[in-house]
Amino acid sequence: MAQFDTIITGGTIATASDTFDADVAIRDGKIVALGHDLGAAERVIDAKGKLVLPGGIEAHCHIAQESATGGMTSDDYRSGSISAAFGGNSSFVPFAAQHRGMSVTETLDLYDSRAEGASVIDYGYHLIVADPTEKALQDELPAAFARGVTSFKVFMTYDLMKIDDSQFLDILSVARSHGALTMVHAENSGIIKWISDRLIAGGHTAPRYHAISHPAAAEAEAINRAITLARFVDAPLLIVHVSTPEGAGLVAGARLEGAKIFGETCPQYLFLTKEDLDRPGMDGAKFMCSPPLRDTATQDALWRHVQAGTFSVVSSDHAPYRFDETGKLANGPEATFKQIANGMPGIAARLPLLFSEGVNGGRITLNQFVALSATNAARIYGMHPRKGTIAIGSDADIAIWDPSETRRISVENQHDNMDYSPFEGREVTGWPVTVLSRGEAVIENGALVAEPGRGRFIHRERPDFTGYPGTQTPELDPAWNFGAEIN
Ligand code: URP
Ligand code: ZN
Ligand code: ZN
Repeated sequence: MAQFDTIITGGTIATASDTFDADVAIRDGKIVALGHDLGAAERVIDAKGKLVLPGGIEAHCHIAQESATGGMTSDDYRSGSISAAFGGNSSFVPFAAQHRGMSVTETLDLYDSRAEGASVIDYGYHLIVADPTEKALQDELPAAFARGVTSFKVFMTYDLMKIDDSQFLDILSVARSHGALTMVHAENSGIIKWISDRLIAGGHTAPRYHAISHPAAAEAEAINRAITLARFVDAPLLIVHVSTPEGAGLVAGARLEGAKIFGETCPQYLFLTKEDLDRPGMDGAKFMCSPPLRDTATQDALWRHVQAGTFSVVSSDHAPYRFDETGKLANGPEATFKQIANGMPGIAARLPLLFSEGVNGGRITLNQFVALSATNAARIYGMHPRKGTIAIGSDADIAIWDPSETRRISVENQHDNMDYSPFEGREVTGWPVTVLSRGEAVIENGALVAEPGRGRFIHRERPDFTGYPGTQTPELDPAWNFGAEIN
């Protein structure tokens, strides 16, 4: 019997810190040796001329998720995971969305039933908390944590989802006491409502007004408030989909001061602009997301923050709503910008875009690419070193990239359940050709070779925030039992 199940030979391995030529030996789904002339294997994958990278971890995507107003994303765990795998990902962490009136346990059970038997890659959930009842705070969030769901997301906007500052403090405190990470959609709801009401009253209803109704100030104010609240109780916080230099600057400033504040941006803010919302008819609806697309100066500034390390992750925020009556056009062709589902697809495009413009374009190193696409997410979300790196003992979650293959992104090669790609026609160089998950091929030479249902739930651990000292707020004496002390 061969010593190993699989050996990947002749490739160049890159981790978040190192790049080196070595073979990778895999047994029982784990990486068991790195080196040369490792021995015999059942299967040999020739990676000569290719990059052998940790499989991507897509840490912000909406899969089989209803919005608060009832719209369902077009991708389920089958199609969403397949699209993610084609895009070089070997794990993903969609949201399990609690809506008001639902318990947390009911929410997680529902998403378990949606994911089980469907996914081709490993998955976890971030729990969206929209109804932080006393029972949820006391019992259900700790139970979710014990169940391996170690990140909670809250919204500061959207009428049916948003929580107030005191509820935010409650959730941050519970998260802190269990070592969980809170994530936040940070936009000032009052500013958005105030402008939107005036625009609609004035007959300005087209998709382009969506961008005007979500100004940079709305993001900056909410990020500032969110960081202030998190620092007040010394809780870790990740600001999702940061879209402005103002917001990124606030994240960078807090990080410089040692606060446990993390930032995420998304390809749409690096590659698209609000001009895309101005397309004829309702076509601009395809480019509506919140926060909205900005301008080219913003793109440049956000790229600099990517380079400088402000952002720990670049995620897709894949929120797929088709351009038909099941999605973007559910309220008809005359719908106002307030009545159109927010979000756009991009789970398969995230890494090719980031690799092409980032690595091949000379904006970031290959090691930064690995950190942004996999390793940082694994650390922040409690999966490291099982996932997100190439090391002995880690899961053999590996993406083999051809760094010189040039493709055009098209809805046809995204393999999601969408009828458009916002990145249609964009040329990228660098393409993931083979993806392994726990040593099993999911994508092999550009074809799907895995069965839905092979993906397993990732029971995540407490994230490691070593290196972020945080700050104790003097007014918060732990003896007063604010729930903010670490267990
Ligand atoms: O517009 C967006 N991003 N829709 C998805 C939900 C969210 O806010 O992340
Ligand atoms: Zn959001
Ligand atoms: Zn989102």
